[in-house]
Amino acid sequence: MRHLLSVRDLDRGAAVGILDLAEDMADVATRAVPRLPTLRGRTVANLFFEDSTRTRLSFEAAAKRLSADVITFSAKGSSVSKGESLKDTAQTIAAMGIDAVVLRHPASGAARVLADGQWIDAAVINAGDGMHEHPTQGLLDAFTMRKAVHGTASRGTGLDGLRVTIVGDILHSRVARSNIWLLKTLGASVHLVGPETLLPAGVGAWPVTSGTDLDDALAGKPDVVMMLRVQGERMHAAYFPNEREYSRQWGLDDARLARLAPDTMVMHPGPMNRGLEISSAAADSARSLVLDQVANGVSIRMAVLYLVLSGSEGRGAV
Ligand code: NCD
Repeated sequence: MRHLLSVRDLDRGAAVGILDLAEDMADVATRAVPRLPTLRGRTVANLFFEDSTRTRLSFEAAAKRLSADVITFSAKGSSVSKGESLKDTAQTIAAMGIDAVVLRHPASGAARVLADGQWIDAAVINAGDGMHEHPTQGLLDAFTMRKAVHGTASRGTGLDGLRVTIVGDILHSRVARSNIWLLKTLGASVHLVGPETLLPAGVGAWPVTSGTDLDDALAGKPDVVMMLRVQGERMHAAYFPNEREYSRQWGLDDARLARLAPDTMVMHPGPMNRGLEISSAAADSARSLVLDQVANGVSIRMAVLYLVLSGSEGRGAV
């Protein structure tokens, strides 16, 4: 694999292969010294033009566990226009001899622009491009679901028949988009729920069903309920009356939590707005996989870094 730009570039075999390799990487974490020499001498540059806590730290941890060097660039506060600063930064980084770039950028398509090779020659991993995609998040979510369903018998399996409901600010969510396409590839079915204003206009062309009533959706007893952050920073208009009303209609509050089937899994990519899209009781409940998602993110990113930096020739890493 040369780059990872979109989950839509992965067929089922490739997606399952990444999840399986991440299982091997997770095993490394349980060793006395949780580190492999595999990427010694390679340098990974984290270029973050948008805020991030877990994605940036997770890529950093993953690169270090594979013995790569990591440099991190945070563009917060830059006054240069976005296109120019991306080009300038990329070329500066390239001059330092970088093997892989992990890019988060507010513009949809930014990672693909970088990967076309005109500015730099490094492998590119999309760590979130605008409202478009966040492929490693989709992969870590699928990995988390697969582990919850199949446990130690996960290897080689997809998510056939799994019913996933994704709730909230679908419109602004690259996490939702990456999940939708990857879940489809892996055999799961996806239902979207949110205010009409936060369901994208083109949703009819996606491989999903959709609706606006959360209680109706939960009555269908989905296997997974994935809550999304209300992305205030991307909203330049009023998409819903107020926070109380949002929470009342689309929040996973304590009453809805109590009505979930016993084995329904609750997920959230973080960062969470506690009390808005998810209550603290739901976020911290035994059925919540939020911290599993974070832990699994490191294994997925180790697998992806390994694949883009050492060619796709196989699983000889561990
Ligand atoms: C998400 C993102 O940045 O797209 N966060 C993450 O990477 N875990 C979701 C969000 O910001 O709401």
